[in-house]
Amino acid sequence: MNKTIEKIVSLCKRRGFVFQSSDIYGGFSAIYDYGPLGIELKNNISQLWWREMTHVHENIVGLDSGILMHPKIWEASGHTGAFNDPLVDCKQCKSRYRADEFSENPNSLNWSKTKCPKCGTTGNLTEPRQFNLMFKTNVGPVEETGTEAFLRPETAQGIFVNYQLVQGAMRMKIPFGIAQIGKAFRNEIIARNFIFRTREFEQMEMQYFVKPGTDDEIMKEWKDKRINFYHNNLGISKTKLRFHEHQNDELAHYAKEAWDIEYEFPFGWSEIEGIHNRTDFDLTRHQEFSGKNLTYFDQPNNDRFLPYIVETSAGLNRMLLTVLADAYWEDEENNRIVLKLDPRIAPVKAVVCPLVKKDGLPEKAREILNILKPHYKVIYDQQGSIGKRYYRQDEAGTPFGITIDHQSIEDNTITIRYRDNMKQERISIDQVLNLFKNHI
Ligand code: GAP
Repeated sequence: MNKTIEKIVSLCKRRGFVFQSSDIYGGFSAIYDYGPLGIELKNNISQLWWREMTHVHENIVGLDSGILMHPKIWEASGHTGAFNDPLVDCKQCKSRYRADEFSENPNSLNWSKTKCPKCGTTGNLTEPRQFNLMFKTNVGPVEETGTEAFLRPETAQGIFVNYQLVQGAMRMKIPFGIAQIGKAFRNEIIARNFIFRTREFEQMEMQYFVKPGTDDEIMKEWKDKRINFYHNNLGISKTKLRFHEHQNDELAHYAKEAWDIEYEFPFGWSEIEGIHNRTDFDLTRHQEFSGKNLTYFDQPNNDRFLPYIVETSAGLNRMLLTVLADAYWEDEENNRIVLKLDPRIAPVKAVVCPLVKKDGLPEKAREILNILKPHYKVIYDQQGSIGKRYYRQDEAGTPFGITIDHQSIEDNTITIRYRDNMKQERISIDQVLNLFKNHI
């Protein structure tokens, strides 16, 4: 694993952001649990996305569909047939690889002459075999034919199959969007780079239903909106973001045009979100497989058609890793590690510290806590030296430190300490809420 990522993994464990799943049993591969700070951060990120989609855009509404759905959905979507990774096994050391790890064009490789990266032997790799990435389960008390179901590998299908119900219930007029946040599952063969690629993850997907012919222009609009979100809402450095356009050999079977937003992680440029023009592929397939008419009636123009779909598809866990990688800073001058998180997404906004545990300072500190608590996630800390308390919070990304000292009792003032430049200023207690409102 890359060294910086290793340091981030260690910080995540130390400060309660992310833990390996089932840790006391030796871990469960490619699944992670989110600790107290991790879930605050994850919620803050997903709420920003949700607000951006469903509050800022009057024509986008939300949905929460089931993880288990009718198995025919996966036939219609192409997942049962095509959601496969070609795999190669080493007969000597039993290691398993994705064929595209060896070459961008694995079909042209002579496998009998290819070396196994783990045991180093040649002639032991098998020809690539297809492996379906969907997790299978059974619905009902007995395992028999006809009871098979799948954990959804993407949230998008829940949106497609509900599109007409949502449109009717909310009287939506094209163009309109449906947004959803939820778990997705993929039996990834190569799960790596911490929470970048895992077997259980969360997606934040938005499907925008448009009139055919307007799709190219709308793709452009969504590309701009989505890349701006990373900089404007999450505070990610602009220079570490770029687009990658899918060429013909990369395009998914459903897409006419596809762009990835990539971030420059410590392990290289990698996809964090996809923006796809899916045309009417999905609705055509679901219309065919369900036998239901899924066309939209455009009353003003007396026109009936299957809408095209422009999709924005982001991974919440990957977004969280992006935020952590971008915020991670080793401040060598001050010998500390800092998460320079944007205050809007920081899990904890402030730590409130009485300088000493006596003389009425803890009580005064609790007064400040009570002013802030109804509005922001703030914590109280009286353990250890004030320097240690601040350094603990620097690692957790807490943007403000508030100290209550003896002067606070005399003149109702407190000291605010800023995480990134460590500057301190004394302000009156009645200014504290306003100061927070200006920054968060
Ligand atoms: N509905 C389209 C779709 O699912 P995708 O490119 O397969 O497209 C979209 O996935 C996003 O979901 C990716 O950009 C990534 O952020 C996230 N994602 C996909 N597989 C993932 C995995 N195994 N672990 C974490 N995030 C994943």
